[in-house]
Amino acid sequence: MPINPDPRPIGMFDSGEGGLTVLKRAWDLYPGEHYLYAADSVHFPYGTRSLAEVRKFFMGFLDFFISQHVKAIIIACNTATAAALEIAQAHSPVPVIGVIQPGVAQALKSSKTGVIGILSTEATYRAEVYPRALKALNANVQALAAPCPVLVTMVEAGQTDGPQVEKRVRHCTRSLLAQHADTLILGCTHFPHMEHIFAKVVADQAVIVDPGLATARLLPTILGPLNTTDDGAIRFYTTGEPKQALHIARILWPKMSEQPRQLHWHQGQLVELS
Ligand code: DGL
Repeated sequence: MPINPDPRPIGMFDSGEGGLTVLKRAWDLYPGEHYLYAADSVHFPYGTRSLAEVRKFFMGFLDFFISQHVKAIIIACNTATAAALEIAQAHSPVPVIGVIQPGVAQALKSSKTGVIGILSTEATYRAEVYPRALKALNANVQALAAPCPVLVTMVEAGQTDGPQVEKRVRHCTRSLLAQHADTLILGCTHFPHMEHIFAKVVADQAVIVDPGLATARLLPTILGPLNTTDDGAIRFYTTGEPKQALHIARILWPKMSEQPRQLHWHQGQLVELS
């Protein structure tokens, strides 16, 4: 573990702009760090794809991050964590951190009844990663999982507020709350962009867990002392259309002000377009 803060950036990945919820948490906690946020918007959404396909895409980003000399990689995407965390950890020279395990640990701490609800993409739901990870740590837990892909699409279009969003959040949470979940894991990094709506809908029926926050809090344990200077910065990369990416990013988090750099897939590898 380095004694002096390491100036190399922290890489962060999502299929789109959901991972900004994790970046925001990290930025709020450690604004002296340099972050490199990369979105595979050309392949968004990941949640409707097979895990094998998601794994293949993420491994392209792993190579990209390594080529950028990052000191750690956060997979700020539950679907990509489910698909690629273990293989990425096996191949990476720097720590790779997923959002699922930290979310699970936080949920187990928060739940009093052991009835835990999980909302996620279809792919994360099908992979059953949350129920398995919860039960591995506490066999008595009742894990109630449900997919909610419509919210992912809304967030990616910059829609995080208003009656339509509230209606969808009510619909997605209804059965979990009816089954008395006392803790609700937002198991897709897009969902915390709507956390205020979840808070309104769930009210005092359940505690909301944002795995991104639990993940960001782990960074000092994994990396040692972090930078406390005031020159932290964010670099933004996308495989999508940079203007559109920035437009949505600004709606979701006004701090994102820098024009994204465009990445292009070429024979399975990422190339930066200048
Ligand atoms: N934000 C991602 C997640 O946490 C995936 C959304 C998608 O691309 O479907 O799973």
